Amino acid sequence: MCADVRQVTVSALHTMRAVYLLLCVALAHHAAASIFRHQLRPRTDSLVIQPLDYVDQHHAKEMKIRLRRPDSSEESKERIYDDLSDYATLRSGRNWNSPLFSVLAQGEAIPYGDVIEWHGVEIATGPKSPVNNKKDIERIFNHAYKVMKHMTEEDKKKIHEAFATTALAANEDVHLNATQLIKKHGYGVEEHVVKTDDGYLLTLFRIQPRQALVEDQRPVVFLMHGFLGSADEWLLSGPEKSLAYLLTEAGYDVWLGNVRGTKYSRRHVSKHASHPDFWHFSIDEIALHDLPAMIDHTLKTSGQKKLHYVGYSQGSTVFFAWAATVPETGDKILSMHALAPMVYMTNVRSPPMRMIAPGSHFYERIIEELGDGEYKPSKELVHTIGGSMCEKVIGCEHICSNENFVTAGPDTAGMDADVIPVIVSHLPAGASARQVKQFGQGVSSQEFRKYDYGVDINKMVYGHPQPPAYNMTEVKVPVTLYYSEEDWLVHPKDVERLQKELPDVRGTYKVSEKHFSHMDFQFSNKAPEVVYKKLVESLQTTKPLSL
Ligand SMILES: *[C@@H]1O[C@H](CO)[C@@H](O)[C@H](O)[C@H]1NC(C)=O
Ligand SMILES: *[C@@H]1O[C@H](CO)[C@@H](O)[C@H](O)[C@H]1NC(C)=O
Repeated sequence: MCADVRQVTVSALHTMRAVYLLLCVALAHHAAASIFRHQLRPRTDSLVIQPLDYVDQHHAKEMKIRLRRPDSSEESKERIYDDLSDYATLRSGRNWNSPLFSVLAQGEAIPYGDVIEWHGVEIATGPKSPVNNKKDIERIFNHAYKVMKHMTEEDKKKIHEAFATTALAANEDVHLNATQLIKKHGYGVEEHVVKTDDGYLLTLFRIQPRQALVEDQRPVVFLMHGFLGSADEWLLSGPEKSLAYLLTEAGYDVWLGNVRGTKYSRRHVSKHASHPDFWHFSIDEIALHDLPAMIDHTLKTSGQKKLHYVGYSQGSTVFFAWAATVPETGDKILSMHALAPMVYMTNVRSPPMRMIAPGSHFYERIIEELGDGEYKPSKELVHTIGGSMCEKVIGCEHICSNENFVTAGPDTAGMDADVIPVIVSHLPAGASARQVKQFGQGVSSQEFRKYDYGVDINKMVYGHPQPPAYNMTEVKVPVTLYYSEEDWLVHPKDVERLQKELPDVRGTYKVSEKHFSHMDFQFSNKAPEVVYKKLVESLQTTKPLSL
């Protein structure tokens, strides 16, 4: 009896152990699969799988084409071609009967056609290529190119010098996070973590003045960063020039937000940022979950009833989406200041935004490349969507491989040389693929609408084949708009339309500087004079209609 029981127990234990082991293996497998799943998309530096059939001539010299010969004679089982004349024949695609080409045609590689070159943009016309002629490239890049052409030799030299090793070594800001930057300049800082109603954990920074205050009832200004940015961008130009410090000195209680997915807000109660699930959000979720959570926390902690909101770039986009959807927004906002507001995208000049617009020649290929997780374009893709044109004009690898500069324009004329490497080291700060897709959808639809999932899913989510538009007439908040003539992402015509639709616009300022880019709103050394001065004046005078 006893022995039997023991035996049963032992064998039960064995079974349990086996089950447990299996479970562990399965779990580990699942974890590995889910953590790395999004990295399994084909991505390689070799010629065989290139985004957009793009042949990167810049790196062609280092590139070796590995080919396996069908006849398996010993010496030619594997042969490495690094002879550039073979490479050229291959690329030209003219020599269809060459032994080299017939090897390729047997399925090892995609045959590439002629390379079309347009101001540094080089795209091959292969069977999978989205382009047929120069016009296809020109349509995407021409307006951005025109705006970029004015860069002087002096500007370009400045950029090169900014990345000289000695300049970099001297600049510790390259390595500092927001808290460290703020402290370095003698200000205090509070870090707050806020949980959204859908489980994301967002970090807010609150700056404390250098001098202790007798009573702390300063009016609150909430600063919301742009697309591919974070709270850092309000700080990088230092206390003399960055808006966060200038507002603190002007007597405001300054708070800096960080939306989900950015470097300070990559946590969730149950989802991990290495998993695509974490990234299934668009501008809509940021507007309807992140903003209310951050604004409510700021009001509660500061003991204020209302605050001033300053939104740069996407920071304005999300505000207008929120305010158009939730009428109570007006009860919390004293005034809204939109710096370079990305709302209507119809006339956008930025090549990546044009390429990712549904209906563009490049759309299918780019969508496939981006996936549905974190927005993390490969090196090759960044090169293709504007990096190569940037290098042709400026010749600076550091700026031209940076997504922010490639997307918003690499014009750094207004920036101090020492701040440029600091920008490149802090940006991009993280975003989802859906965010950039939603901006692209706005280019095609010419409307500011919710995320477009495609007809079938739209019907389930919105009850309609098309996503609903955000109605700007519903934004019952005093708004001041700031924009510039040459902004790649925000065209003056699109700001004009926004201004007409908003019911309570208190001022519209076009920056007087001739060449003022999207990123200049944060980083130009002229920004304090041509933008922030107006902004502070406007903060002091804007009163809600009801007061
Ligand atoms: C900034 O860096 C310091 C030092 O590494 C660290 O203690 C702090 O938690 C960081 N803050 C944030 C918000 O990442
Ligand atoms: C937007 O809102 C305004 C005022 O609330 C309303 O009159 C108008 O019909 C709305 N527009 C659309 C397209 O729904």
